[in-house]
Amino acid sequence: MFPKSALISLTFLAAVVCGQQVGTNTAETHPKMSWQKCTKSGGCTTQSAGAVVLDANWRWVHTTTGYTNCYTGNTWDATLCPDGATCAKNCALDGADYSGTYGITTSGNALTLKFVTTSANKNIGSRVYLMASDTQYQMFKLLNQEFTFDVDVSNLPCGLNGALYFSEMDADGGLSKYTTNKAGAKYGTGYCDSQCPRDIKFIAGEANSAGWTPASNDANAGTGNYGACCNEMDVWEANSVAAAYTPHPCTVSGLSRCSGTACGTNSRYDTVCDPDGCDFNSYRMGDTSFYGKGLTVDTSQKFTVVTQFLTNNNSSSGTLSEIRRLYVQNGKVIQNSKVNIPGMSAYDSITTDFCSAQKTAFGDTDSFGNKGGLANMSKAAANGMVLVMSVWDDHAVNMLWLDSSYPTDADASKPGIKRGTCATTSGAPADVESASANASVTYSNIRFGDIGSTYTGSSTGGGGGGGTTTTTSSAPSATQVKYGQCGGQGWTGPTVCASGSRCVVLNPYYSQCQ
Ligand SMILES: *[C@@H]1O[C@H](CO)[C@@H](O)[C@H](O)[C@H]1NC(C)=O
Ligand SMILES: *[C@@H]1O[C@H](CO)[C@@H](O)[C@H](O)[C@H]1NC(C)=O
Ligand SMILES: *[C@@H]1O[C@H](CO)[C@@H](O)[C@H](O)[C@H]1NC(C)=O
Ligand SMILES: *[C@@H]1O[C@H](CO)[C@@H](O)[C@H](O)[C@H]1NC(C)=O
Repeated sequence: MFPKSALISLTFLAAVVCGQQVGTNTAETHPKMSWQKCTKSGGCTTQSAGAVVLDANWRWVHTTTGYTNCYTGNTWDATLCPDGATCAKNCALDGADYSGTYGITTSGNALTLKFVTTSANKNIGSRVYLMASDTQYQMFKLLNQEFTFDVDVSNLPCGLNGALYFSEMDADGGLSKYTTNKAGAKYGTGYCDSQCPRDIKFIAGEANSAGWTPASNDANAGTGNYGACCNEMDVWEANSVAAAYTPHPCTVSGLSRCSGTACGTNSRYDTVCDPDGCDFNSYRMGDTSFYGKGLTVDTSQKFTVVTQFLTNNNSSSGTLSEIRRLYVQNGKVIQNSKVNIPGMSAYDSITTDFCSAQKTAFGDTDSFGNKGGLANMSKAAANGMVLVMSVWDDHAVNMLWLDSSYPTDADASKPGIKRGTCATTSGAPADVESASANASVTYSNIRFGDIGSTYTGSSTGGGGGGGTTTTTSSAPSATQVKYGQCGGQGWTGPTVCASGSRCVVLNPYYSQCQ
């Protein structure tokens, strides 16, 4: 929702570099991460070719002819990089030591990202993409599909953000579109998002060295004249205290390089993208006992996050009309919290009506509607987007937009200001990088496919005796047990409830015997 800029922090004590050719000091070996594709009829099949790749911004960039840094600390070498085109020609991106330098490890279907990793160098945070092959990102076409993953945020305190989201990047990282980019997806190039970040070192085949200004509060980052804008669907931005999911549409398709004020340097709303998004954060939307340690979704343990991209005609050829959220923890399906804000209905998902009602109730600028809303998010979701997983701290506003009161000078009792229980003094990068250096996030068990095909669990609302929401269909004439599913979109199981219970519609996708 707020700036993702300055998320790049890599302190090589010796030096750091960055480039768009390919370096060969370290072989690039993508850590394997399997995931599953699911259908209603066929169940889930494991995609064992899955792997992750580290974003280019974190990599060592050095001369193509040797190992002189092109970028050191937060400054470009003026001789190697007199301009962006020459810099891209002179400089190479090298392979990554994933676990040793960056604290990135995988095991089976799980990925763990450590926050601070100290080796010969000190690395802060990371950003990786899911790959389909050694040279292509996995593309996700989200319409009429469901995306599910397990997450462990128990070790992510205030000020940190373990983010899982989709950006409308090129599948090859821009390799074929920008001929001066010789590195491509294999080296994690081509990032963009709805903040039009200007801390990206190479954009569209050129270095971003012109006008580069080192950050005042980040020894490793800076901003150049250019930014990298594109549609972004935040499925998950969270720590153990707060969580949000947020579509951020743009008025362009794919990566669009901005420059100057079109990157939002005067006003955040001057770009082609919606920087605020239409966010659903349960705490901000009025349910303060839903998400957190010991709460309904208990963040002291792993849980499953389900996100459904529903369309107007229940087909992938339709347009995005609703983004629904469910959780599953300890075998129980937990429906999303309901909005409890004066002037708003009890929405429990993201729809056009929810978004406009929220902007009105909170008095927020409707940049979401102004940049095309769900209709434009829908185009990106249809085109295909790249899966991004990261852990970061916030050098702009200390992550207060996610987990505290923001803006800090507003009346915190006004609806929309309070987003979580973290103190307004929390989240300063210098503090979290020292006090929470050992923080980490684990994403695992990614599943993607037909609505209703990626998760199982008994419904909540009663003690034991659950039926299930699995796609495994039962004989249509069978009787469903109390608390079992008895209806909903695509349901082919029993619709008759055991005596003593009746079938209650909880939402269009789920009816339950109660
Ligand atoms: C869904 O709607 C779109 C237009 O919004 C239409 O082009 C498409 O044919 C529809 N698909 C089905 C299966 O009805
Ligand atoms: C939606 O995006 C398209 C380009 O894909 C753009 O032409 C249009 O203006 C956008 N809609 C709005 C309301 O900005
Ligand atoms: C981080 O973990 C290491 C090893 O488990 C420990 O030695 C160190 O004190 C921890 N640091 C902090 C800040 O908790
Ligand atoms: C899509 O599915 C929902 C839930 O089953 C149903 O209520 C709705 O009428 C369907 N829409 C269309 C256009 O078929």
